[in-house]
Amino acid sequence: MPDNATPLTHRPEWTALEDHRAKAEGTHLRDLFAADPDRAERYTVQVGDLHIDYSKHLVTDETLALLRELAAAAYVFGLRDAMFRGERINTTEDRAVLHTALRAPADAVIEADGENVVPEVHAVLDKMAAFADKVRTGEWTGHTGKRIRNVVNVGIGGSDLGPAMAYEALRPYTARELTVRFVSNVDGADLHEAVRDLDPAETLFVIASKTFTTIETITNAQAARTWLLDGLGGDADAVAKHFVALSTNAEKVAEFGIDTANMFEFWDWVGGRYSFDSAIGLSLMIAIGPDRFRELLDGFRLVDDHFRTAPAEANAPLLLGLLGVWYGNFHDAQSHAVLPYSHYLSKFTAYLQQLDMESNGKSVDREGRPVQWQTGPVVWGTPGTNGQHAYYQLIHQGTKVIPADLIGFAKPVDELSPQLADQHDLLMANLFAQGQALAFGKTPDEVRAEGVTEELVAHKTFQGNHPTTTILAKELTPSVLGQLIALYEHKVFVQGAIWNIDSFDQWGVELGKVLAKRVEPALTEGAEVPGLDASTRSLVDTYRALRGR
Ligand code: F6P
Repeated sequence: MPDNATPLTHRPEWTALEDHRAKAEGTHLRDLFAADPDRAERYTVQVGDLHIDYSKHLVTDETLALLRELAAAAYVFGLRDAMFRGERINTTEDRAVLHTALRAPADAVIEADGENVVPEVHAVLDKMAAFADKVRTGEWTGHTGKRIRNVVNVGIGGSDLGPAMAYEALRPYTARELTVRFVSNVDGADLHEAVRDLDPAETLFVIASKTFTTIETITNAQAARTWLLDGLGGDADAVAKHFVALSTNAEKVAEFGIDTANMFEFWDWVGGRYSFDSAIGLSLMIAIGPDRFRELLDGFRLVDDHFRTAPAEANAPLLLGLLGVWYGNFHDAQSHAVLPYSHYLSKFTAYLQQLDMESNGKSVDREGRPVQWQTGPVVWGTPGTNGQHAYYQLIHQGTKVIPADLIGFAKPVDELSPQLADQHDLLMANLFAQGQALAFGKTPDEVRAEGVTEELVAHKTFQGNHPTTTILAKELTPSVLGQLIALYEHKVFVQGAIWNIDSFDQWGVELGKVLAKRVEPALTEGAEVPGLDASTRSLVDTYRALRGR
């Protein structure tokens, strides 16, 4: 077991890294590459279809060895094994963390509380597949007998971001004749815009909520029911043909009025942000079909197996996790940019924000003591090349350390016209150019050699030395998407293990929920809400006046 009695920052493995960092001050990636012609090859790891180049990081063999020693001292692989075994590593909620069981093969045995969960997982997958096929073939019809042409997923957080992100990522694999939309925001505009051009007779609502108590989702689901019944003449029997639920809470699903026969179940050992390959993926499965969905799960499993079995030196999630610790804890990096050079990954970073920031945005350790070290970074980014014309300036020449992941694919999707497919080389040239410019920059001498006048030399100098990981794959298939997500899931796990925090709870979102419920009557009825601070009271009064109340 790790020595959690000694604060992380007092352990010898930590202070060794501090010393190493001090000695490495001033080292430039230019020097590291010049000193080792094999660096790119040595610092590249292949995991399934993912070619992961981490050579443009401010590390040497010694740095990596010291980081691995830190991981060993933090018992990362021991905790990993406990997670895969179904132990209750989510201690504050006293739950197992078994999202890896969602993609386990049918013959695997994975126990939670002494019971093999794999048969249930596959039973639900089969039920989802049968339903998805019925919708896709038109066998499942709406209340009036019309074919379902629109699927609207209503959910938020982990019950939205995963399927919404994956639907965008895998658009070329989707049944193009279906309209699939995702509603999450309690702002009525979200649902309004999602359904305003749809025919209720052809619309299926997928209500996705692990708890089935999340106010945004339940409020939107009620509004969706009203919209549906208004459109179909008010016959409440219509709900059975137009609403299905994805949840762990059969009681609440029934209370809402959805037949539990139309409920796809998952379990409390699946965290919300780790749930999209559970029943929460139903909208995606309807869009891409069960076979593609299983390929996605195969991709997840491939990286699970890698994380479970690869030695530390070649273990990609461990390496990426450790690199994040290196920057966050030893270089004062506050954020981490994820920059996909793929239009289809437009929601990938938003998905990772919940995965990473809800998991590792913690300030007390597993024992409840305040941590004395930085934990999860701010994760941000948008697809290239758009970001290059917006915020890359700050990454190149600003004052902050911002490690970044550049993600790209060799092949454009088959659907593109030859002319559009040709643009792919330009897209990828930008990815490679950014990695190069960030790492190696441009020296004052190189700037002068271009004839730049002396007063502009400093402005046109690129310091470089900005670390990046480049992840390449042949193409963005369902399996590759699964591989990518599992890579990040396990990276987040590694970091949480090192920081000795519970990466699987999210108590920090609770206070806002409670206060919203308390404040709402002040807005609607002008109720006197006890405990409102002066600023919030005044804002509420202003709001009411502007609303004409
Ligand atoms: O934001 C808090 C949270 O609990 C997330 O962790 C979760 O993904 C989201 O709300 C939605 O929860 P549910 O699926 O229970 O509606």
